[in-house]
Amino acid sequence: MAKPAPDSTTASVAPLKLADFELAARAVLPQAIYDYIAGGAEDEATLRDNRDAFARYRFRFKVLTSAESPDLGTELFGQRFTMPVHLAPAAIQRMAHPEGEAAAYRAASEAGIAYSLSTLSSVSMEDLAAAATGARWFQLYMHPERAVSAAFIERAADAGYSAILLTVDLPKTGRRERDIRNAFSLPEGVSYANLEGGRRAATAEGPDPFARNVNANTSAALGWEDLEWLLARTSLPVIVKGVVRADDARRAVEAGARGVVVSNHGGRQLDYAIASLDALPEVVQAVGGDVPVLLDGGVRRGTDVLKALCLGASGVLIGRPYLYALAVAGADGVRGMLELLREEIALSMSLVGARRLSELSQDLLTRI
Ligand code: FNR
Ligand code: LAC
Repeated sequence: MAKPAPDSTTASVAPLKLADFELAARAVLPQAIYDYIAGGAEDEATLRDNRDAFARYRFRFKVLTSAESPDLGTELFGQRFTMPVHLAPAAIQRMAHPEGEAAAYRAASEAGIAYSLSTLSSVSMEDLAAAATGARWFQLYMHPERAVSAAFIERAADAGYSAILLTVDLPKTGRRERDIRNAFSLPEGVSYANLEGGRRAATAEGPDPFARNVNANTSAALGWEDLEWLLARTSLPVIVKGVVRADDARRAVEAGARGVVVSNHGGRQLDYAIASLDALPEVVQAVGGDVPVLLDGGVRRGTDVLKALCLGASGVLIGRPYLYALAVAGADGVRGMLELLREEIALSMSLVGARRLSELSQDLLTRI
């Protein structure tokens, strides 16, 4: 039988692109954990469309711009970052690697970007704060009991988190059929480190143990009054994550939000939700002049980052790629993944003819 040709998509080869980390992670992770990370809701149409939306744009690149060494530096919420990419909040990362969130945060910190810690993390807010010194944001899921949310907010300020990301697209956990099939639950030895006792009894409804557990610890009655309540309780900037409409974005900003994240939760919540990139222009038009608009969902290439910025985003968050890199090689893996992405962004900037991020404008894109 012929030997297979060397192929950059083989797990054993050094990763050349973010997608390679998924193949490598798949080879080392138990199937149910890989499925939890990789999967989306129902038909996974939004999961796919988040990627496909990037492929619907082409660059009208400029030439003779002397963009030899583009400057990727940027400022957000009063802090400087080395590139417009930050790590999205993702639950229970000790599932992927024993050091979990602490390792991913160290890598983000060394790369000069922000790390977002999930409410449902497997390393506590305080332990994470002790792991590195870079920018850390706290992602808040409103708890069914306000007192629990109030304690999270206070702990975030005490532990030096510089922003709160309020996630609003998960009143209930989406129907993730891979998790249902796997009867997915928290692996042994992994718990919600921010919650007293590790987890609240899974008394809520849901199709699998994990969903019941998340539903028991997140508010299903989430409303605008929760955002107002949060804004009244904290002096930290509040960023609303999970918005895809102009009216919602405007209302959030009028209430006092200092930024929004255009996101459909990586296709894990409402299936057939609009792709993040397709929702970006209307949100930018509604609030982009007033507050930073971030985007997540399907960002896998430097050119994806450029496209989001051309359409008015101030930065992007990435989710799954860093979880895969974490699974493969802990902090080193995440650092390597971020450097690959940084190189892609820098090269694409040179080739599109932009010397700095502020030169990325809609005029550089065409939709096919
Ligand atoms: C998430 N996401 C998420 N979001 C959030 O606000 N709180 C959370 O706890 C989690 N947990 C979580 C776990 C896993 C395994 C994934 C993949 C995602 C959503 C996340 O912040 C982000 O919106 C998406 O992951 C972005 O899409 P990509 O980059 O994964 O395509
Ligand atoms: C998820 C939740 C926990 O997407 O945010 O799995």
